[in-house]
Amino acid sequence: MFSKSGWIYLTVVLVTVNGLTIHSDLDDNYDKSVESYNGTAVQERTGKILFPFVSIVRFANTECASTNTMNGTCLARRECNDLQGTITGICASRRGRCCVISRSCGSTTNVNNTYFSSPGYPAAFGGGATCSIIVNRCNNNVCQLRIDFLDLVLAQPNGDGNCVTDSITITGGNTVVPVICGDNTGQTIYVDFNGNTAITISIAATLATAFGRRWNIKLVQLGCDCPGIAPNGCLQYYRGTTGTIRSFNYGGAANVALSASLVTGTRQIVNMNYGICIRMEAGFCAIDYTQSAGLFTFTVSGDVEGADNTVLGTAVGAANDGACTTDFVVIPNPTNSATGVAVGTDRFCGLGFVPVRSAAKPFVLYVVTNGNEGATPTSPPDVANRGFSLTYAQVAC
Ligand SMILES: *[C@@H]1O[C@H](CO)[C@@H](O)[C@H](O)[C@H]1NC(C)=O
Ligand SMILES: *[C@@H]1O[C@H](CO)[C@@H](O)[C@H](O)[C@H]1NC(C)=O
Ligand SMILES: *[C@@H]1O[C@H](CO)[C@@H](O)[C@H](O)[C@H]1NC(C)=O
Repeated sequence: MFSKSGWIYLTVVLVTVNGLTIHSDLDDNYDKSVESYNGTAVQERTGKILFPFVSIVRFANTECASTNTMNGTCLARRECNDLQGTITGICASRRGRCCVISRSCGSTTNVNNTYFSSPGYPAAFGGGATCSIIVNRCNNNVCQLRIDFLDLVLAQPNGDGNCVTDSITITGGNTVVPVICGDNTGQTIYVDFNGNTAITISIAATLATAFGRRWNIKLVQLGCDCPGIAPNGCLQYYRGTTGTIRSFNYGGAANVALSASLVTGTRQIVNMNYGICIRMEAGFCAIDYTQSAGLFTFTVSGDVEGADNTVLGTAVGAANDGACTTDFVVIPNPTNSATGVAVGTDRFCGLGFVPVRSAAKPFVLYVVTNGNEGATPTSPPDVANRGFSLTYAQVAC
């Protein structure tokens, strides 16, 4: 795409030099030169004389700081205009423009680092419509779309964990993406492109309500050889020797909605079945998982309201193996972090989490929930579950 833009500019030069047009660009000091870029060129190069008063300037189309909610890409002014971007500053020694590509409902993009935001963002969006964006690959060498939920506040699921009021659905890729809703600010997911097929992100916000829903989602296209690409099929992917992983819509406060059986509802969302991958860093051979600080940081199955702080977040509340049939996480072949003794099961659920270590590679934690997060007669009651927030730390070899 960027090599093509060089030709667009060349055309402009010829038009200008033939005297057919004195383009208004000439009023602008920084646009007297012809600009083109090359995504891989890092150094600015000036002085390739084409005509006496026209030189070709190349600069890298790197990310440039813009507003505090969106970054731009350093582009030529004309290219930014062609892409219907918003110029927010200058870059590349004043030769480029910091160009923010922001799109909302009913749009299509093939531009890297497009932001998909709710109408009127950051103001709350009253809803009343389904809002979608279609994302096409920016070139044939793109394999994956990284979707950063910089800000994603949708309505909570109903008390049984179904996203009935608001939902975000992502289709067209090669990765199965669960339908989610609620609070997901700070989560990132990776979706593999399926060849040339577009990925569609659709946010159903159909119920017009005063609820303060809003979103600002960054769409980063990752080349097949990009070091930041996630292994195929990993919905989430973490790098670094330590970090915190959370279930979708994890949060400290209970869902105010009641479940169908009229008990306090859950924040956990139904029908999860995905893997969270963690890159094994050089010199590290195992990984420890512990629950984050707080009573509710591992409330994955069971009755939160029927338990007190002798149970919540403790070994007493922890359950595993055959007790975990509905909602649970899977950590392969773990040992107890404190004792080094094999746990003997891969499944963890309940209201607390005993720290474990796993040396099985690659590092993956699977998340499973069933189709009903409320209290049902056929499964152990789920009341007021929050999901999980687990901290991981890789262990040196
Ligand atoms: C981009 O720049 C690099 C390094 O200068 C060069 O090797 C490559 O051929 C250029 N690509 C294009 C499309 O101009
Ligand atoms: C902007 O870029 C900086 C540096 O890469 C990054 O830390 C920050 O998160 C980005 N902000 C947005 C809104 O994308
Ligand atoms: C898209 O932008 C990101 C961040 O600036 C960069 O890492 C990535 O390589 C770009 N993708 C392509 C296909 O150029």
